Amino acid sequence: MGVQISPSILTADFAVLADEVERIGNADWLHLDVMDNHFVPNLTFGLPVVRCLLRRSPLPVDAHLMIDDPDRWAPAYAEAGCASVTFHAEAARAPVRLARELRRLGARAGLALNPATPVEPYADLLPELDMLLVMTVEPGFGGQPFLPSCLPKIRRARDLIRASGLQVWLQVDGGISPSTIEECAEAGADVFVAGSAVFSASDAAAQVDRLRALARACVHA
Ligand code: DX5
Ligand code: ZN
Repeated sequence: MGVQISPSILTADFAVLADEVERIGNADWLHLDVMDNHFVPNLTFGLPVVRCLLRRSPLPVDAHLMIDDPDRWAPAYAEAGCASVTFHAEAARAPVRLARELRRLGARAGLALNPATPVEPYADLLPELDMLLVMTVEPGFGGQPFLPSCLPKIRRARDLIRASGLQVWLQVDGGISPSTIEECAEAGADVFVAGSAVFSASDAAAQVDRLRALARACVHA
């Protein structure tokens, strides 16, 4: 698939979300951050808002569920039509069962890892997954600085994926901008979430193109 850009609307104008989505029509995905004020300290939106955005988005939806008990709540996001549903390893009780359920419902299954969660215990789960998400900030808020301490884990995750021979995508999320995307691409990421870097730009589409070009140059370097 190569490099993909998935802008997060977390720091967009929530009063006009459908208009904000129109600004990034050249991106590959629309990243929606669902937060429940339990798994993370912040509260955003849930399925009703996601359903409305699914109807209005020209892009496939990449749902990032920062919620407790994804085993119970995540399948509804796949049923609603999210093309990719990512749940957190720290929150899931039965990640294999949940990933299988998401795939059965027609979504790509993603597993997210917080900065302090190691990737190695999940190596044997790669055949059950379509994407690994290595968080590059503590989840909960947009606009936080990128944590360079996550780079070795991106490299180890890429090595595990390569060794598996599987086509699992490796996403990074948090503090991704023109000044941090290259080191993530060099480390092996291929799907890039960017919130504030895209939505604070006056020309959001141009920023998406810029991020994509920077990452591509590193992936092929
Ligand atoms: C953080 C969210 C991210 C966030 C990224 O918990 O998962 O998707 O919106 O925002 P930036 O790019 O501003 O760090
Ligand atoms: Zn996210």
